[in-house]
Amino acid sequence: MLPIIPKVNSEKILSDKLFNYTLEDVVNIKDDSIKKSGYKLTIDGDGVKVYASDDDGFYYGKMTVLNLLEMMGALPHCEIEDAPRYVYRGYMLDCARHFFSVETVKRMIDIMPRFKLNVFHWHLTEDQGWRIQIDKYPLLTEIGSYRDGTRGDGKPIKGYYTKEEMREVVAYAKERHIEVMPEFDIPGHTAAAIAAYPYLDCNNSVIGVKDSFGIHPEVLCAGKESSYEFVTDVLKEIFEIFPFNLIHLGGDEALRLHWLDCKECQRVMEENNLKDEDELQAHFMARIVEFCKGYGKTVINWNDGMVGENVHDDVIVHYWQGAEVNRNAAVREINRGKKGIISPFFSYYLDYPYGLTSLKKCFSCNPEIDGVTATENIMGVEGPLWAEYVKNQKDIDRQTFPRLIAIAERGWSEWHQDYKGFRTRLKYNYKIIDKLGIECDRIEKVDPNPIAKIISLVKFFGNAWDKTQLQNAKNVAENKKRLKAKYGK
Ligand code: ACM
Ligand code: ZN
Repeated sequence: MLPIIPKVNSEKILSDKLFNYTLEDVVNIKDDSIKKSGYKLTIDGDGVKVYASDDDGFYYGKMTVLNLLEMMGALPHCEIEDAPRYVYRGYMLDCARHFFSVETVKRMIDIMPRFKLNVFHWHLTEDQGWRIQIDKYPLLTEIGSYRDGTRGDGKPIKGYYTKEEMREVVAYAKERHIEVMPEFDIPGHTAAAIAAYPYLDCNNSVIGVKDSFGIHPEVLCAGKESSYEFVTDVLKEIFEIFPFNLIHLGGDEALRLHWLDCKECQRVMEENNLKDEDELQAHFMARIVEFCKGYGKTVINWNDGMVGENVHDDVIVHYWQGAEVNRNAAVREINRGKKGIISPFFSYYLDYPYGLTSLKKCFSCNPEIDGVTATENIMGVEGPLWAEYVKNQKDIDRQTFPRLIAIAERGWSEWHQDYKGFRTRLKYNYKIIDKLGIECDRIEKVDPNPIAKIISLVKFFGNAWDKTQLQNAKNVAENKKRLKAKYGK
């Protein structure tokens, strides 16, 4: 794709001589001197040649040819040398808050390689829905994949992916040089699992699958051995479906309210000299990390779950939260040697309106976050789309594009701040967007003026706000108060 041609002047390409070659004319030539996943592309009177040292390189060279064809209708005379900046270039779709069909998922996987993205992060478990078939725990789907409605609207939301369907998605993605990384979010965001198996919560809470959003108090007990057993059993089945060597285990937004009063949680803390509940979470996660290592898997956690000093050395930091304590911990861990994936929520989250996260703001976010000196530990970027208010494919398109293209460029090309240049390249990308049938805002609307910004914000927060949010805010405040009372900070 044109935005992802770092060393070539796009204006020049577009004015050069055109050839009537097609994708079938591409000749692949092995060249071991070319960087991993990179390629060299030459288009001239001798034809269309892609040089690469591996299959990814040949594939991305072909994607560039396809993009040029779609943008221009013919191929320009050019020579391009291109290679990715980061190994991880992700897109996350939350299929738990709302459920999306296999067809919708595959459609996104079809689109991703056009922008040279290579990891589909599949968010599959939440307070509001459990979406993975697990044979050993049938109630996860029987009970956990269904909710009566959303914020009292009385419209049921249900659905889960069978093992066969998930394998089909993995194979489909593989053909497009994409790895599928499932997320099983623990210990927070587990209310749907607790609705199915109440013993997973410290208090054996009998609850329903949540119909409201935000942060809920029911989380997996980090003290009971049965939690460890449950998580490892589920993971065994997940690993049979997903061959990718990375597994996302969430770790975000886990309230401590139940842990603070739980005999088992407090016992584990005492026995292991853990100084607070952050360290309890890290301790619990570290056991799971060791289990995953036995299967050749590396664990990723959202950064707010990695505040404890005792976080396992092998966990990859998924940076999203800039609150001071979380941010400092993320920077500390990346500088200490952990790998980092970058998704700052005010810049790369795709669920916000353009009034909050304009295209310019999204594009202008440097993945090398402030304070990180070991920039070599940054392994990539990701654009997450959370689906509280995203209900169908139309919503997915509108929220995802064109911002995902800016994030893709951050992941592939070297960092530069030439937003004007990006907008010029984006005009050509709209031809690809249109060819792919993506319905999203046009370029005139993605950097709203102050009035349009306010309208967009009022609309978004007007829709997002309801009295359950007040309850969630109370839970968070109570959590803070209890921790302060216990630790004085
Ligand atoms: C998150 O947005 N809770 C990772
Ligand atoms: Zn507990």
